Amino acid sequence: MKKILAFSGSNSSESINQKLINAVVEHLSGVEVEVLNLRDYPAPVYGIDLEKEDGFPEQMQALLLKMDDADGYLVSSPEHNGSMPAVLKNTVDWLSRMGKKTFQEKPTLFLSTSPGARGGASALDHLLTIMPYRGAKIVGGYSLGSFHEHYLEGVLSEEKIKEIQPLLDKLVEAVNE
Ligand SMILES: Cc1cc2nc3c(=O)[nH]c(=O)nc-3n(C[C@H](O)[C@H](O)[C@H](O)COP(=O)(O)O)c2cc1C
Repeated sequence: MKKILAFSGSNSSESINQKLINAVVEHLSGVEVEVLNLRDYPAPVYGIDLEKEDGFPEQMQALLLKMDDADGYLVSSPEHNGSMPAVLKNTVDWLSRMGKKTFQEKPTLFLSTSPGARGGASALDHLLTIMPYRGAKIVGGYSLGSFHEHYLEGVLSEEKIKEIQPLLDKLVEAVNE
């Protein structure tokens, strides 16, 4: 069975994007799913001197193996000041130095959410614009506005699941092609 690796672009222990990931992966069918948390893959801020002196951080090497092992990716990003958070950019920067395009020409679905009405739409737009150059074969993008209105008592509303479901199906279809 093909495998989708799912993670959020957040290192917050209370990440709403990680909550969104955990909620939507329940609706991926016909594939194996592995959810990981970037909190478990901390890395220093990328620097060329650091790379020359110390090579690649162990955590980034471990993450690269996870990226290698997957047939597609589901990523939900927070928005920090109009773009992706530093932790996600830093992760992409490290991975981009390790001999492969970060998303390895594999199907990728990007989500975003925030407590605000736009749901991190600027961060999502940025990801959809730049990540094809990092090898993401984009199957779609979706931003969930006003997260806390749609995620009550640990459950994502039926209405929002219905909106996201076609994109999840498209991702599964693309990895199975
Ligand atoms: C440094 C910083 C910058 C932020 N900038 C934005 C922003 O530009 N747009 C937005 O909608 N929310 C912004 N927020 C609020 C985040 O959407 C909110 O913290 C959200 O919970 C982050 O997602 P996470 O919980 O998955 O980490 C910002 C938060 C921080 C800490």
